Amino acid sequence: MDSNKSRVEKDMPLDFEKRMAYGDYLKLDRLLSAQSPLSDKQDEMLFIIVHHVQELWLNLIIHELEFAIGNLRNDNAGLAFKALARVSRVQEQLVTAWDVLSTMTPSDYLTFRDVLGQASGFQSYQYRLVEILLGAKDPRMLLPHKHRPEIHEKLEAAFNGPSIYDEAVALVGRHGFDIPDSLLNRDYSQNHVFSDELSAVWLRIYRAPDKHFELYELAEELVDVEDHFQQWRFRHMKTVERIIGHKKGTGGSSGVGFLKTALDRTFFPELWAVRTEL
Ligand code: HEM
Repeated sequence: MDSNKSRVEKDMPLDFEKRMAYGDYLKLDRLLSAQSPLSDKQDEMLFIIVHHVQELWLNLIIHELEFAIGNLRNDNAGLAFKALARVSRVQEQLVTAWDVLSTMTPSDYLTFRDVLGQASGFQSYQYRLVEILLGAKDPRMLLPHKHRPEIHEKLEAAFNGPSIYDEAVALVGRHGFDIPDSLLNRDYSQNHVFSDELSAVWLRIYRAPDKHFELYELAEELVDVEDHFQQWRFRHMKTVERIIGHKKGTGGSSGVGFLKTALDRTFFPELWAVRTEL
């Protein structure tokens, strides 16, 4: 058998002078010209690509979260669930991406760390937007983006709007549950504050999942997203510890100590509390 037989079939176009080709559609020239290390050190390419891959996935997460928020608002829970399930799968990719970066040793990183200056993932506006869409409202997190008005505007709009949890709680209310007005008509630019009343509502839902299946499923999708978010934070923190120990970050924070403080934060506190109450 001739294993080197041509794999081109008769209907496959080979002339792309007047046709859109793969690379044109995906704008690969632009995408692949963005990996341009500032040093000549071997590991900087890995460092850049892992960041780019994570930013691409964050882009998709934002796309899906915005879609989920809109669909919850319009009572299309099914479409929102599909998007949230996709977000969780993408988050798995983000979590395992740390395994690739972990192949970089502390000595490797030190060969090019200087070229980063003060640049740090702390200034990732996509990461901040995901946090905001999930409900983290800390106005100081918008400050590093003041110099880019179009980005700042986008962050600010999300900051002043309802999070996915606000829309989920409103949906629960439309299903006939008694939700306090302070939650339904709140100032969205503030963090959601733990509510005993809301906790009691989720408890009723979790005690009768068959009866309230849609809301029960919604709650579990949200917990899934938060769980993965925390796994990302944990793996980031451990990867950072593995690579720079307890040195300060390029962004000026205490480093690992700073990253650890995020592990205590929660987006959907009542959904975690309900597990103890059940
Ligand atoms: C050698 C690899 C890395 C090191 C040593 C590192 C280190 C740090 C440190 C120390 C911080 C705290 C802020 C600061 O002082 O800079 C931070 C924040 C952050 N990093 Fe990384 N990082 C690494 C890779 C990544 C990658 C691949 C991403 C993916 C996008 C990322 C995203 C972030 C984000 C989003 C924050 C903000 C976290 C928050 O505000 O809670 N980092 N990083």
